[in-house]
Amino acid sequence: MGEITHQQRELARQVPTPCFLYHLDVLVQQVNGLRHHLAEGMHLYYAVKANPNLGLLKRLLPLVDGVDIASSGEMEQARRAGFAPAAMSFAGPGKSLHELQQALDHQLGVLSLDSLAEAHQVAELARARGSKARVVIRVNPAREFAGYAIRMAGRPSPFGVDEEGLPSVVQEVLQLGEWLDLLGFHVYPGTQCLKGEAVEEHFAATLAMVETLIQAIPFPLRLINFGGGLGIPYHSGQQPLDGEQLATSLSRLWQPFRQKYAGCQAILEPGRYLVAPMGWYVVTVTAIKYSKGETFCITDGGIHHFMAASGGFGQLIRKNYPMINLDAENSRPLVKVNVVGPLCTTLDVLAQQVELPQPQVGDRLAILQAGAYGFTASPSLFLSHPTPWEYLADENNRLLPLRRPVHPLQWGEVTEDGD
Ligand SMILES: Cc1ncc(COP(=O)(O)O)c(C=O)c1O
Repeated sequence: MGEITHQQRELARQVPTPCFLYHLDVLVQQVNGLRHHLAEGMHLYYAVKANPNLGLLKRLLPLVDGVDIASSGEMEQARRAGFAPAAMSFAGPGKSLHELQQALDHQLGVLSLDSLAEAHQVAELARARGSKARVVIRVNPAREFAGYAIRMAGRPSPFGVDEEGLPSVVQEVLQLGEWLDLLGFHVYPGTQCLKGEAVEEHFAATLAMVETLIQAIPFPLRLINFGGGLGIPYHSGQQPLDGEQLATSLSRLWQPFRQKYAGCQAILEPGRYLVAPMGWYVVTVTAIKYSKGETFCITDGGIHHFMAASGGFGQLIRKNYPMINLDAENSRPLVKVNVVGPLCTTLDVLAQQVELPQPQVGDRLAILQAGAYGFTASPSLFLSHPTPWEYLADENNRLLPLRRPVHPLQWGEVTEDGD
């Protein structure tokens, strides 16, 4: 985790709360640290699902080569931000007919086929339009890759086709070649990997799998999408991945492969790694209570905005995100407190027995590493509180609002008048 600057603290004191505050300089540093060391033919895409904020996507536009999208909503959001459909890769196990149609209408860069049934569906749509669809086959690898906190390989999965059955799927997709242009393969190994060796292992195994397949069933290979999954440190004792070193070692594996399969391109599509470090979730302490020997700081934010901080978005064992008290750096004694939100559920915990300079009512607390899987990965409608602010601290340290709160009661209810 980078050093916290005085400037960052000052900015976080100025935003309305509850608020996600994004530091642009941290984002730029994180993206550039990875991309400058990627070899020729390796493209850095951003997985929109990690944080789909429009203002943020606009800032990412000049920094990355494209986006991974998972719905027509994300497709539309990326288009509004200025991403060309040709720079989009669409993956997801339940794409609707409408979404597939849209993908073809916009001539998306590439569509990941998650099943043979989807291959037939896309071929049929492409035939009706009279133009070929550019596709890769998403593969569920036969083995899992240790080192990813959540593994999405080597086990029964709704994502992609099992590697064991891949040759017959490839043959069938090639038979649909009049309407499907099979570019290559897509493998997403899992998420939150902090071990460089594990990422390299996934890379090497994917290249070996593709090579075996191409030797058995030759076709012009043009694309391998290696997915995302690069991790960031959330908890004490965790070491960050060295993005530059990783990019260099992945490039070393990639270069000989690319020489052999001239023209083959690669996509890396991280989400969390690119955007988590820039984000702070800033809340205000509204009340302090003592119960059975423990202190509870109740705040104006909670899991309806940031469920991941409660451990409810993929953590097996709940651990605290890094947290600071913005109003008391060293001036007060350190105490252990529970930081909770206003929801009527015991799940609404932002930090458990966390050590902070003694919080007081009115203090601002910030959860760090909060830029990924935040507001849009949380149960925002639960208890009908407004959604949070989102602000960007830009290159001149100006605070720009990116999204204002919306009251959940405004969302789609049909009134008695039928409005
Ligand atoms: C297909 C695909 N690509 C990329 C990502 C981004 O993953 P991460 O944020 O771990 O990098 C995901 C996350 O679920 C995904 O499903």
